[in-house]
Amino acid sequence: MTLTIEGTPLEGKTAVVTGASSGIGRATAIALSRAGAKVGLVARREDRLKALQHELGDTALAVPADVTDYAAAAQAIATVEEQLGPVDILVNVAGVMLPAPIAEADPADWDRMVQVNLMGALYGTRAVLPGMQERGSGHIVNLTSTSGRTHQPNFSVYAASKHALGAFTNVLRKEVHPQRIRVTLFEPGPTVSELGDHVDPDFMQALKAEIGDWEFLEAEDVAQGILWTLAVPERVNVNEVLFRPTDQRDW
Ligand SMILES: NC(=O)c1ccc[n+]([C@@H]2O[C@H](COP(=O)([O-])OP(=O)(O)OC[C@H]3O[C@@H](n4cnc5c(N)ncnc54)[C@H](OP(=O)(O)O)[C@@H]3O)[C@@H](O)[C@H]2O)c1
Repeated sequence: MTLTIEGTPLEGKTAVVTGASSGIGRATAIALSRAGAKVGLVARREDRLKALQHELGDTALAVPADVTDYAAAAQAIATVEEQLGPVDILVNVAGVMLPAPIAEADPADWDRMVQVNLMGALYGTRAVLPGMQERGSGHIVNLTSTSGRTHQPNFSVYAASKHALGAFTNVLRKEVHPQRIRVTLFEPGPTVSELGDHVDPDFMQALKAEIGDWEFLEAEDVAQGILWTLAVPERVNVNEVLFRPTDQRDW
């Protein structure tokens, strides 16, 4: 499916999508590519990125990197800029979700969530921003979650990382609006992806029982929402999007 909105043409723009090896990031990279953008694909699994690059053609570039390493993230952005051109759009999608009761959680899981969900997005933003400011244009989309607005038991540090990214994103918008850089906080609800694959299976089963038979969002639905925020006319700054499955009531 290709979304065509009269407004900002994505044709020829250069985008970077983190988390492009699966789920929402992958779907977003595909949607951007189909809308005419050149796309830098960032995540750790090189084989997945190379396969996606092959699928999308020579306007896509696999740039394997761990977003929790600032030097690696900055190098990935520099590589995209050298090969595809200055980055017009950054979509920070990379993330992990490792829910657990606070008293039983492994602090190493907390570190990982803060590093990927929060620091990864901060590092990517830091790396692209000076160029965007110099050019007086750009768009940064940070993906949080409904957990970035709610306080669900067992999701304490996941929620904390997403709330923190939300706060950062709101401050970012105020700092960069003089250069006409647009900033979007995108908050999806439960979406079919690999996010739950890293969660303890018993915990996941209990969670599914609690949720019931909701129909989750598809990663492509979220990608189309993100694409819309990018494709509206330059005068429109879509600052926040809460994007829930129709079946979702709470969270
Ligand atoms: N699925 C949902 O229900 C849901 C709901 C709301 C928000 N979200 C958010 O959506 C985002 C994408 O998640 P998803 O649902 O699409 O899950 P997913 O399929 O597990 O995708 C996560 C992506 O993050 C990448 N990633 C993880 N650690 C990384 C690191 N250190 N460096 C670079 N990339 C890293 C993974 O790639 P590699 O493993 O190859 O590095 C993968 O591409 C996350 O921020 C998540 O919090 C998801």
